Amino acid sequence: MTEILRPDAEEMDAADPLAGYRDQFVIDDDTLVYLDGNSLGRLPKATQSLVIDVLTHQWGSRLIRSWGERWMDLPTRLGDLVATTMLGANPGEVVVCDTTTVSLYKALSAAIDARPGRRSVVIEEDNFPTDRYVLEGLARRNDLKIRWIKSRGADGLTSADLENVLDDSVAVVTLSHVDYRSSALLDMPGLTSLAHSAGALIVWDLCHSVGAVPIDLEGSAVDLAVGCTYKYLNAGPGAPAFGYVRAALQPELSQPIWGWWSRAEMFDMGPGYQAESGIRAWLTGTPGVLSLAAVEPGVRMLADAGLVAVRAKSVALTELAVRLYDEWLSAAGFSLCSPRDPERRGSHVTIGHPNAQQIVQRLLERGVVPDFRRPDGIRLGFAPLTTRYVDVYDGLQAMREAAADG
Ligand SMILES: Cc1ncc(COP(=O)(O)O)c(C=O)c1O
Repeated sequence: MTEILRPDAEEMDAADPLAGYRDQFVIDDDTLVYLDGNSLGRLPKATQSLVIDVLTHQWGSRLIRSWGERWMDLPTRLGDLVATTMLGANPGEVVVCDTTTVSLYKALSAAIDARPGRRSVVIEEDNFPTDRYVLEGLARRNDLKIRWIKSRGADGLTSADLENVLDDSVAVVTLSHVDYRSSALLDMPGLTSLAHSAGALIVWDLCHSVGAVPIDLEGSAVDLAVGCTYKYLNAGPGAPAFGYVRAALQPELSQPIWGWWSRAEMFDMGPGYQAESGIRAWLTGTPGVLSLAAVEPGVRMLADAGLVAVRAKSVALTELAVRLYDEWLSAAGFSLCSPRDPERRGSHVTIGHPNAQQIVQRLLERGVVPDFRRPDGIRLGFAPLTTRYVDVYDGLQAMREAAADG
């Protein structure tokens, strides 16, 4: 294979059909190699003007009247937008509110309650910390046993790994669609079907796939799912999460945090709690409107670009990173901690090195922003609407030089 040169990456940018989207983001330093859009996505220009309008007009001028005029329905209106454009779901199945952690708690708790008598729950050892902690807390409260699926490293778990821990005592399985560390992309329809064949419900965490990988919750027969909006959806730091509950399951599931926003006829403010029907039953309290409103522009931009095109560029970006890893890094003490098969990989690539922390420090000093993942992972996240092929090239080259500098 011929060596890849920077002009090759420049050519790829010139031919990129999504290149124009970068201009729709606030980018005040074009030389910054930002490879962390999978932790905090960049700021869309449209979000700047929208939030200023929410502040000055909706809050400043309209005051409390804005609740009735547009804010009350925002969690479900944005839920419908996310459902239909990003998740392969239907209107009325998604709500945008709370954090991912709280949404996970609600989803897992409701799923456990819906399988009384089943005494175990299933999760991977490698799952994101908050997913593990929430499930551990719920297992303790409900006196359930956790069946841990052993870490599979770079390639992620297989259907055999799940099959090995499933039987008719399992109430719920929870998995991450794309692993936050390795980037392993799991077989959503296959694993969901396996969980169902044991009579269990499944809760998917979509934080690292939503907005980068096309998702088909309905076609995969998923029960419940959660995800965040501040990564590939570009909604901003601490922006609310989304929760999905399959329409057919909504009548039989009950979320555990009974707040006034999820009560039927909430403004009656009467005694006793009766859940609202439909997806509003999954709300809890007053949403943070500024963050909530900021969800829309990023989602609309991704929908406009089309997730098929977004995924195609994401695969091309990660393929370039793997190729440069092979050429420059594999013989220089680095290791590839992500799947080689692009079909099984999300939109980030993790590269290991015993001195990862020091290398990341060097990269930051040189204007390259990756993520350090303990103990030895350098995570490079590629957001297809803003990451250029030259960013991949320059980022990997900086890694090569940082390691060579000792
Ligand atoms: C896979 C995954 N799940 C859950 C979370 C936690 O989300 P939150 O802090 O919004 O509760 C994160 C945060 O990065 C994540 O990457």
